[in-house]
Amino acid sequence: MMNGNKTTFFTLFGATGDLTYRKLIPALYNLHSLDHLDQGFKILAIGRRDYTTQDYHDLLRPWCEKFVRTGFNERVFDAFLSRIEYVQMRLDEPEDYGVLKAIYETCPQSQHLYYLAVASSYFDVIASNLVQSGCTSYASFKQCLIEKPFGTSFESALELNNTLLRFFKEEEIYRIDHYLGKEMIQNLLAIRFENPILTPLWNDSMIDSIVVRALEEVGVESRGQYYDHFGAIKDMVQNHLFQIVSLLLMKPSNNLDERIAHQNDIIEHLELYHQSKEDVILGQYEANPSLKEKMKGYREEEHVDPQSMTETFVSLRTRINLPEYKNIKVILQTGKRTHMRSTEVIVNFKGHGPRPNQLIIKIAPDEGVYLRMNIKKPGQSHEVETIMMEYCQSCVYENRLNTPEAYERLLKAGIGLDRALFTPWEMVASSWKVVDGWLDFIAKEAVPLYFYPAQTYGPTQVLEHFHEE
Ligand code: BG6
Repeated sequence: MMNGNKTTFFTLFGATGDLTYRKLIPALYNLHSLDHLDQGFKILAIGRRDYTTQDYHDLLRPWCEKFVRTGFNERVFDAFLSRIEYVQMRLDEPEDYGVLKAIYETCPQSQHLYYLAVASSYFDVIASNLVQSGCTSYASFKQCLIEKPFGTSFESALELNNTLLRFFKEEEIYRIDHYLGKEMIQNLLAIRFENPILTPLWNDSMIDSIVVRALEEVGVESRGQYYDHFGAIKDMVQNHLFQIVSLLLMKPSNNLDERIAHQNDIIEHLELYHQSKEDVILGQYEANPSLKEKMKGYREEEHVDPQSMTETFVSLRTRINLPEYKNIKVILQTGKRTHMRSTEVIVNFKGHGPRPNQLIIKIAPDEGVYLRMNIKKPGQSHEVETIMMEYCQSCVYENRLNTPEAYERLLKAGIGLDRALFTPWEMVASSWKVVDGWLDFIAKEAVPLYFYPAQTYGPTQVLEHFHEE
């Protein structure tokens, strides 16, 4: 129910960045067009560039035309634009914050969301300038929404967190992991806990292995500078894949704190399966001369070191060292420039012979649930064949229409003060601790980096992780 009297300031730092144009503005447009924003919801777009609000509005048009989910409509777009004001200021100049303060002053006792779509090196300066200039004193409630990466290691994440805690309380910090906004990631809990037939199967007597993979067709695109210091493990495993694994294997709970504790328990008990270097396969894409369309190898990409040893693909053979799970092989895989885009979870149940049952949860681009079963082949013979029971959720037009984009769901949750879709500090901390340990191990054991041609399924060595032992 929209509240006509309430004012919310959504202050967007990094208003001229790619994320803003591609994701945040279209998501806000969708929320506006679906009447999910209060009348008094105002967007302050902060940038250094010398634009007027009209210039900025003109810039937004093609992005909205291209990326909004709910359909572009001139009348709706005009009404949406009336919420957006462009504010030119320098982030590191305290006196520039006076402009913002003057705007906030017009509506004291409002809700303030500060969205930091900027490099984390700016978090400190923005937060401290907001507080010291008195901007935050007009907020009845303030929130700080921040994008990943949250640190590059446990130590740096801790430092960043301590910095933020000087200005915001933990309950005011909303750390974004956009995977939590995805429809099928939210569905993991329903699939797990609303199907009691699965409950007795969820242990290592029944499950042989689990594969969580996020493969991408795209390469590093324009993000070479960031990615070359990160690599696939820090970029995807530490956050997105850990979220999936922990949601998939956590114990049920309706209480948020308890749920976080359960998820954390899974993450803290993640370890390499044999503690051997074969548990880790690292890859980097190279040009593939057999392709018609020329694609650069990773080392030829813009802002990437031509000698780079950064992994663009990783397969990690792990386990959860908890009594009910410790014999399940949990394979975490992610890679760029592979042969397809596919994020999915595959649960391989134990079984005899060549036909084990399998539960597949497709997260993106297709969304759905699939169960591999064995049945008698129709006809006189008693031959058994394997079939797939399929529920393709995204194949249904209405489902696609009614499924919010990840950022749309996250922004709605943030505006509604729903913390369930954001990553609490404990999880960031435990994830980094695990990943730091693995990275130290990789360095100590000198795990090799294999090269794979663009548009293939990573290095061929990856097949070893699927073989029976
Ligand atoms: C981001 C990573 O967090 O997730 C990117 O930084 C990656 O490198 C992206 O491409 C993948 O997201 P999605 O939604 O396309 O699976």
